[in-house]
Amino acid sequence: MADPKVNGLRSIELNVFNLKDSAEFYRKAWGLDDVKLTNGAAYLRATGPNHHVVALHEKPRAGLAAINFSAADKATVDALHAKITASGATVHSAPHDFPGEAGGGYGFEVYSPEGQNIRISSDVASHSDIIDDPSRPACLNHVVINVADHDKQLAFFRDILGFKLSDNNGHMSFIRCSANHHSIALAESQGPSLNHAAFEMHDFVSLMQGVGRMRLAEHEVGWGVGRHSGPGRNIFSYFVDPNGFAIEYTTEVEQVDDSYPTRMGDYWQAQPLRPCSWAGKMTVPTKWMAEAMNGITIEKRNASCDDVISEKMAS
Ligand SMILES: [Fe+2]
Repeated sequence: MADPKVNGLRSIELNVFNLKDSAEFYRKAWGLDDVKLTNGAAYLRATGPNHHVVALHEKPRAGLAAINFSAADKATVDALHAKITASGATVHSAPHDFPGEAGGGYGFEVYSPEGQNIRISSDVASHSDIIDDPSRPACLNHVVINVADHDKQLAFFRDILGFKLSDNNGHMSFIRCSANHHSIALAESQGPSLNHAAFEMHDFVSLMQGVGRMRLAEHEVGWGVGRHSGPGRNIFSYFVDPNGFAIEYTTEVEQVDDSYPTRMGDYWQAQPLRPCSWAGKMTVPTKWMAEAMNGITIEKRNASCDDVISEKMAS
């Protein structure tokens, strides 16, 4: 196979402190539905056909567990595995059948240069029923990760997994594996950590309905509602989940094709309406939202859990 590539974003897997509370949040407040619950994990779907968009695993430390991508078929999975292995990347497993509780399928795992677990698979089960409720997320739209070595991470996603660079705004690369302007973005920081996961809402009205549901559940907006003046030009509203992960409702993410001109920082920094705004008014993340997006909230909670564990072991 000439140039095997991933062709879509399926789901995100998160290690969480308390599975019951986290699943309840993603179900009742965020708007997802149970697909499968096990002793230590919960798989939750959006309204679209993907088997699940979030998998939660109860662990002593919270963090990003995996990002799941799709490939067209088993032959593409095999060809990608061969290409990645030849590149010298740390491949976690040979292609194999995935567990049925996660929708099955055929795939493998590889570590990105900064250690994120990337799963690539084909033939995963999907739902034939589309849930008719536009106030709830339809799918996972994109994942942004904080990276310490931007160039190395970009080379991995672009040169090995087959992503294309859509834009770079001077401190973030927005990369695509489908018509969606970005399925992954790499934020230059002290990484590695999860910056945020964005869930797609059908339109602006449905995004506002989601925001309303979150506020009724006493989860305040951490940034937005606004429209990014930068790459993707999407409407956004950011929140923090009970663990400290930053999550986003988004809509109207730009859809592009091969004619899309990649533009760099000079172009984006000169755009009008910077920074991101709404009705002419600047909107910026709250301090607590910015901390969550930088991975600081999770880091602090993990550190306090480590202290509790150490104290218990010492006593
Ligand atoms: Fe986003």
